[in-house]
Amino acid sequence: MIGVLVSGEGTNLQALIDQGLPVVAVASNKPGVRALRRAEEAGIPAASFPLEDYSSRAERDLAMADWLEQHGASLIVCAGYMHLLTPSFLDRFPGRVVNVHPSLLPAFPGTRSIEEALAAGATETGVTVHLVDEGVDSGPILAQERIPILPGDTPDTLRERLQSVEHRLLPQVVRSLLP
Ligand code: GAR
Repeated sequence: MIGVLVSGEGTNLQALIDQGLPVVAVASNKPGVRALRRAEEAGIPAASFPLEDYSSRAERDLAMADWLEQHGASLIVCAGYMHLLTPSFLDRFPGRVVNVHPSLLPAFPGTRSIEEALAAGATETGVTVHLVDEGVDSGPILAQERIPILPGDTPDTLRERLQSVEHRLLPQVVRSLLP
């Protein structure tokens, strides 16, 4: 059973839902984001855990882990979740937290990977699905797929091509991790 962490649009969450994966709960660090509405529209319990409601990141992560576990989640997918996870969360799901990232890690970690790949003049980039550790987009790589950067690509055109790969690759890897 899958718990999904989101912060924004939720197109990767939508891909997991549309491909029939057993998503049982969706948690966000940000209230009101489109991803939470997508969960509600699919009838999946959704909740937000804004940092300002807690005394520390560790306390927030504990509350989020408790809520996900109560809903039966045993595999966690970060689908556009833009916060680092603390050990208080990761220790609850050892080796069972997955992230999707729009670059060929270890190249271009962080939140501006697409812009940075373009600015660096890279001729290719891609999508990485990996297990999460305490670092920024680090942890063992489970799958990668390359795509070329085309002359005239903008952040928007490149993001669109990367996301179409993400929407296929992430559900495929997540499915392979289910019992
Ligand atoms: C995705 O492209 C994902 O790879 C990226 O955020 C986007 C979220 O889109 N994640 C990162 O950059 C993580 N460092 P979505 O909310 O529509 O799924």
